[in-house]
Amino acid sequence: MQIGPIQNLYDDHRQVENRLGRLDALLAAPADTPGLETDLESIVRFLEEDLEIHLLHEERGLFPVLERYIGREAGPIAVMLMEHAEMRRLVGGLRQAFDAWRQQRNPATASALSDAARQAAGLLYEHIAKEDQVLFPLAQRAFAESDVQEVGERMAAVNDPAKEARR
Ligand SMILES: [Fe+2]
Repeated sequence: MQIGPIQNLYDDHRQVENRLGRLDALLAAPADTPGLETDLESIVRFLEEDLEIHLLHEERGLFPVLERYIGREAGPIAVMLMEHAEMRRLVGGLRQAFDAWRQQRNPATASALSDAARQAAGLLYEHIAKEDQVLFPLAQRAFAESDVQEVGERMAAVNDPAKEARR
């Protein structure tokens, strides 16, 4: 079976983990580390933009096809959707904490930033593990070739909103 689109989702997860590792290292680095603010900004933006596209690839690409096999209202897809909503909230909190720290660097804003990063990273690592170990293997077992192809097309439509509007 062709696993292209699902492999892309796994690959996205490695990218997210890579950014979270860097985020952790940057927050532990001395406050006068050159490029600290710019590097943090690029990670926060990655989580706002690239992670958002990844979530849409799952929500509009994978889940609608997978729900034909496992349903949507209860079970893993419902849990994943709730976690996506929580993730967006925590990334919003990270953005706010980062901007507050950038405007006024002090121990209070620094510790709020670390807290926000820890919360977002904690959920992300947990969520990624569930998808990697449970949800994606489930999809790979359940899907026929035509399902995989449909997931790929749906994911491509996320990247091209004009095409999506015609669906
Ligand atoms: Fe997800």
